[in-house]
Amino acid sequence: LTVATSPDFPPFESLDGDRIVGIEVDILEKIAETLGVEIKFEQMDFDSVLPGVQAGKFDVGMSGITVTAEREKNADFTDPYFMAAQAIVVMEDSDITCKADLEGKSVSVQTGTTAESYCMENGYDVQAFQANNDAASALTSGKVDAWVVDNEVAVALAAELDGAVVLDEAMTSEPYAFAFAKGSDTLVAAFNDALKALIDDGTVEAIFEEYGVPYVAPEK
Ligand code: ARG
Repeated sequence: LTVATSPDFPPFESLDGDRIVGIEVDILEKIAETLGVEIKFEQMDFDSVLPGVQAGKFDVGMSGITVTAEREKNADFTDPYFMAAQAIVVMEDSDITCKADLEGKSVSVQTGTTAESYCMENGYDVQAFQANNDAASALTSGKVDAWVVDNEVAVALAAELDGAVVLDEAMTSEPYAFAFAKGSDTLVAAFNDALKALIDDGTVEAIFEEYGVPYVAPEK
């Protein structure tokens, strides 16, 4: 199976040298083991993952992808395996302490993400960056007042950014799943069976624990 991914999203997928590592990599490897298939990763920016999968260029999309009603019109998804959220990251001397403070502020996001659409809908002054790291740098270099990104990624990356802090107030609730081209019924069903078994026997939770991330099970 060819797997489209944007490995700029620790702890879900990131690069360790040339190797793609992370929570989703481990889950996918377990699924592939169950199905008896080989996986081959293709790296790209996040905003190319879903279009590539939809166009049938890749079999699976794996990128901390949030399932939304809009995306479900153009792609098929597995059942969710985790509930994520959007978080606000600011510099420690910032006067922004909660979501309400973002009103009228400039915010960096990654292009094509739910953070981007969420911030646009809320009318913030949005600056979008193709690469997640550039969205982060926009904050630390003072180009924007805040950076909005998925919570677990905010926690992982802010730890490496001098002076950046993640605010406690999460802004959304977002299920993560693997993505496929429309009409991939057989493959999606096989993935769902394998995924369900891995969730039910605690494997998925154990993988999150290995990365120090509290596991939030998706709503049934
Ligand atoms: N969960 C968000 C979304 O689906 C962000 C995903 C970004 N992923 C990445 N690998 N950069 O829009």
